Amino acid sequence: MKEIEKSIETCVSLVELEKIRVSLFGKKGYFAAQFNELKTLEGEAKKEFAQNLNTNKEHFLEILNQKKLFLEAAMIQEEMQKSRVDVTLFNQESSAGALHPVMETMDKIIEYFISMNFSIEEGPLVEDDFHNFEALNLPKHHPARDMQDTFYFNDAMLLRTHTSPVQIRTMLSQQAPVRMICPGAVFRRDYDITHTPMFHQVEGLVVDKTGKVSFANLKFILEDFLKYMFGDVKVRFRPSFFPFTEPSAEVDISCIFCHGEGCRVCSHTGWLEVLGCGVVDPNVFKAVGYKDVSGYAFGLGVERFAMLLHQVPDLRSLFEGDLRLLEQFR
Ligand code: DAH
Repeated sequence: MKEIEKSIETCVSLVELEKIRVSLFGKKGYFAAQFNELKTLEGEAKKEFAQNLNTNKEHFLEILNQKKLFLEAAMIQEEMQKSRVDVTLFNQESSAGALHPVMETMDKIIEYFISMNFSIEEGPLVEDDFHNFEALNLPKHHPARDMQDTFYFNDAMLLRTHTSPVQIRTMLSQQAPVRMICPGAVFRRDYDITHTPMFHQVEGLVVDKTGKVSFANLKFILEDFLKYMFGDVKVRFRPSFFPFTEPSAEVDISCIFCHGEGCRVCSHTGWLEVLGCGVVDPNVFKAVGYKDVSGYAFGLGVERFAMLLHQVPDLRSLFEGDLRLLEQFR
């Protein structure tokens, strides 16, 4: 019996262990034989033999069971080891897809502002009148509301027409200083060669204690940003109007196609308009309860940037999912 015990101890597979079990407890096994022998005994001898036999039997059941649990655990361990995936392995097969040019442009824009320590904020696509218009100094019946032809659900709810409401949401949820951008989709009732009903914007807002943030800061960062996006271009600021900024400006870059000579893309002006900006209007701060602060804001259309960077003539083609166009961006 010592030998069998030893063989259980040294056994390394469940198959082998099963063989040992059968040799002990099978119909023709050791214990079956022992019980047969028991039948031939009488009296005291039988009793003693039976007791021994039972102790032995329990002992072997116990060690077989222990060993079985051990081997099963070891087997699971081994399986796991074998099927482990090395997530650090480099996949040499190139994938079929690629980033959509709009998303690629968006990523590049975001990358710049992250490097300038801006936070990324988000807001809902379904907005209310207060965040989209009212708090941005666009009261009801203000003619500037028509600048953005809106998809309304009812009087109070709409699809946001710009990412500017996220300025309001951010200021309502945190105290100055604020240094954020908000990338995201916006919606307008528009459809032609340079307009689609859904497009993307990136909004920017910087707010700090009065005197710390000025138009000069705005000018510096936007010039630096536009050179990062378009390379060595000239940048100019033109006075303009937005209800949420005063003063406001539109920003142009020298035409990247004709280098300012004048061509079809820049309508022979030598300049391309790329974004709107300004110093935050005090009425906006009033709407969110900010006191003793100053700030600047800006907003840009991502599709416009992508069109210019990739020379896409018709904005609508960016949303048609035509593989012949998309494959060029692999
Ligand atoms: N919200 C404006 C639009 O959709 C873009 C814009 C202009 C945003 C000037 C700004 C800004 O924050 O200061 O046309």
